[in-house]
Amino acid sequence: MKPAQAQLVETVRQRFGDKAVTTDADTIAPWLSDWRGRYRGAAPAMLTPASRDEVAAMVALAADARVALVPQGGNSGMVGGATPPADGSALLLSLRRMNRIRALNPESNLAIAEAGVILADFREAAERAGRRFPLDLGARGSATIGGLVSTNAGGTQVLRFGNMRQLVAGVEAVLPDGSIHDGLAPLKKDNRGYDLNQLLIGAEGTLGIVTAATLRLAPGLVSRAVAWVGLESPAKALALLRAIEAKTDAVESFEILPGPVLDLVVGHIPGTRAPLESRHPWHVLIEAVSIDAAAEPPASLLERLLGPALEAGLAGDAVIAASEAQAEAFWKIRHSISESERAAGPAVQHDISVPVDDMPRFMIEGAAEAERRFPGTRAIAYGHLGDGNVHFHVRAPHGMDAATFHAGDAAAITRLVHDMVVAAGGSISAEHGIGQMKRAELERLGPPARIAALRAIKAALDPRGILNPGKLVTLAPEAATP
Ligand code: FAD
Ligand code: MLT
Ligand code: ZN
Repeated sequence: MKPAQAQLVETVRQRFGDKAVTTDADTIAPWLSDWRGRYRGAAPAMLTPASRDEVAAMVALAADARVALVPQGGNSGMVGGATPPADGSALLLSLRRMNRIRALNPESNLAIAEAGVILADFREAAERAGRRFPLDLGARGSATIGGLVSTNAGGTQVLRFGNMRQLVAGVEAVLPDGSIHDGLAPLKKDNRGYDLNQLLIGAEGTLGIVTAATLRLAPGLVSRAVAWVGLESPAKALALLRAIEAKTDAVESFEILPGPVLDLVVGHIPGTRAPLESRHPWHVLIEAVSIDAAAEPPASLLERLLGPALEAGLAGDAVIAASEAQAEAFWKIRHSISESERAAGPAVQHDISVPVDDMPRFMIEGAAEAERRFPGTRAIAYGHLGDGNVHFHVRAPHGMDAATFHAGDAAAITRLVHDMVVAAGGSISAEHGIGQMKRAELERLGPPARIAALRAIKAALDPRGILNPGKLVTLAPEAATP
């Protein structure tokens, strides 16, 4: 541990006690690698503050001593954003102890949750109050409010409610000099200059440490229906979505996956099975909901809308879950894709977006082009079709190990995929952020004015470069304070 780090750890321990910091390697070890195991870091200590003021004091000490900090929530991020540098030059700062829901008001449909509150816990608290927090994703058991805000997370309900950016009504954060930004008040109108809340959402811990957020709740559900549809192509899937959206706004999720991905999940995740007897090249999971007991039940709504789709040949086969258990079983398939992929061998992942109408073309032509240019690879795309966001994963040739793949074609494959995305007017990061995984690609694809502006913001707020160095954008060398 460097002297400045050791001094900071000692001061934190004296001021806030043993619970506020650990240097125990076994305690820290599980937090040093990302969920996919792509990045492995080192940290001589992990700070574990219990309150906003403790975070502020720790950051002020770190700023004075120029000690780098990596904020961490549930460590479920997909771009290595919460993994510290391998040289031990940064300390982890975990928000996991800050897990209080400070307020939850069903009348105003607002709640204030601290950064370390786990998504599943927050969703359950909202439901107990007869409301709902309408953001869900496969990592609900570990992702924290601070991480969700800092990555501007998406998930499977963006179609109707948008990303975290739309669900956050206020942000409390500690800025890189240790000062506190209290932007929790849920003001519908506030034109006092630049919007710091919106700047901190999606900043991936590089501009401030989120300590709490004011979150928007949605009315509680009266009922929901989940359908599984087998169909021919992404083009037919999008046509089906458009046909449904022309008739109702009750559909909240519309997730697409190819047959081979369904086979992978069923083959590797215990307790899952294909929802349809018939086989189809593509599948879609659809969820429709109702918040009004007097409205048409979602199950009959889906039945009424899927019938004509089947007759018109938009869909090949469909089943509507007959029970809540079966609905959960359908969702388990969708949310287990990432986990099943880990069993399928090395792949390079791309979380990309293109204009929704162009996504079917991109999914087919992009996959064909990747496989043409890199023989033996298999490109698959699945995810949030209605958001124009799919997870475009290219798997290594059969039998190739991860080290060979990542030392070989992986980076070239990523450049090809990202070039195709940019050519389609899309984004190389739809919902996971940039982290360390995409930093070089963000700079390569710019454009320069955008990168310069991001760097200028980073230099203005964190001139010492202590917050999450090496993630998202780096301070241009000349910008670091002497
Ligand atoms: P971490 O991984 O701990 O950190 C993520 C980033 O935020 C890092 O840069 C970190 O430094 C920073 N950070 C964390 N906490 C704070 C804080 N309090 N203040 C400042 N910076 C902070 N993501 C989606 O968007 N959509 C999905 O559908 C989706 N599905 C997933 C499915 C699975 C199975 C898994 C494993 C992940 C999935 N993710 C998805 C990715 C991940 O869950 C999200 O990125 C989530 O927002 C990360 O939250 P976290 O608390 O784990 O953050
Ligand atoms: C998902 O939608 O499943 C997640 O974003 C994780 C992934 O990229 O697989
Ligand atoms: Zn996703």
